[in-house]
Amino acid sequence: MQRLRQIPTLLLTWYRQNKRDLPWRNNPTPYEVWVSEIMLQQTRVEAVKPYYERFIQELPNVWALATCEEEKLLKLWEGLGYYSRVRNMQKTAQTLIANYDGVFPKDRERLVTLSGIGEYTAGAIASIAYQQPCSAVDGNVLRVISRLLANPTPIANVAYRKQMAEELTAVYPNEGEACAEFTQSLFELGALVCKPKNPNCTACPLAEICEANRQNKQTLYPVKQEKRAKRDESVYVFVIQTPEGFCIRRRDTGVLKGMNEFPSVVSHGEGVEGALFALGIDEYREVKRQRFTHIFTHIRWDMTCVWIRTDVAPFDAYALDEIKESISLPTAFRQCLRIVEDV
Ligand code: ADE
Repeated sequence: MQRLRQIPTLLLTWYRQNKRDLPWRNNPTPYEVWVSEIMLQQTRVEAVKPYYERFIQELPNVWALATCEEEKLLKLWEGLGYYSRVRNMQKTAQTLIANYDGVFPKDRERLVTLSGIGEYTAGAIASIAYQQPCSAVDGNVLRVISRLLANPTPIANVAYRKQMAEELTAVYPNEGEACAEFTQSLFELGALVCKPKNPNCTACPLAEICEANRQNKQTLYPVKQEKRAKRDESVYVFVIQTPEGFCIRRRDTGVLKGMNEFPSVVSHGEGVEGALFALGIDEYREVKRQRFTHIFTHIRWDMTCVWIRTDVAPFDAYALDEIKESISLPTAFRQCLRIVEDV
């Protein structure tokens, strides 16, 4: 605890001199903090920037998000993955309008009752937007604090995260801008200095109070659990060209449920013909095949993409330009467009 108490003074000075100029850092509204933090879960800062700017421009507040058409919403999120995040966001926007006059509640207890808002996001909104003393413990913060204390507890341990959140909250500045800065200074230190692989301890404002640094055992922390092996799945993806255009349908099961796809079939050893038959297609001409892979959190897809022509469209069909420009298509399937482009 003594060590934690020393962090704010050391870190705030460093942060004010070293912080990056990021689009969500300019006096953000609670809505803007929320959008950025949801995007930043699982996605790198550099990749998030253009998505964030486009999203805020198109949907600048809770009301715009609550009433946005699903297809437009998915298009704005296309490429970020984990599409349930944006669906939950729309649900929460609607709840905010129904129950809170469209304004985010200030207290963590009520924030965490909203769809898709956990302890971390609640802490980020409460501290960054509402300038309250409230920690937000993400992967960066877990790494920084685990090293600082040379704590061997695995970071997957929920009780450990909870305790870290409470102990950090107890050393926050009282209120105001410094609370917002302190939350972000911990993210920033994790991203720029206390990096996972090559921590730059000579540039670290906390080096002199860091136990892992003292022991020269920085990279032993944080302690992680072995990752679960990914399951391999073979998938046929059919780019079905018909006189009306190319077929797209909604997935009704498995990963990416509810998202658009080029009709696909998980393969259990059957050939292309059998897989197409399962889709109701028995007359076709094959144009080309190309292999692709896509890696999800728990699954690795080995995709055999098959471009075929058939006379009767078994699903809704769209012009190629429309698919490229206005239909949302997850990255796994969008890459398959290369089969018709690289001819
Ligand atoms: N990672 C998570 N939240 C962040 C933020 N607000 N700024 C930079 N990196 C982050």
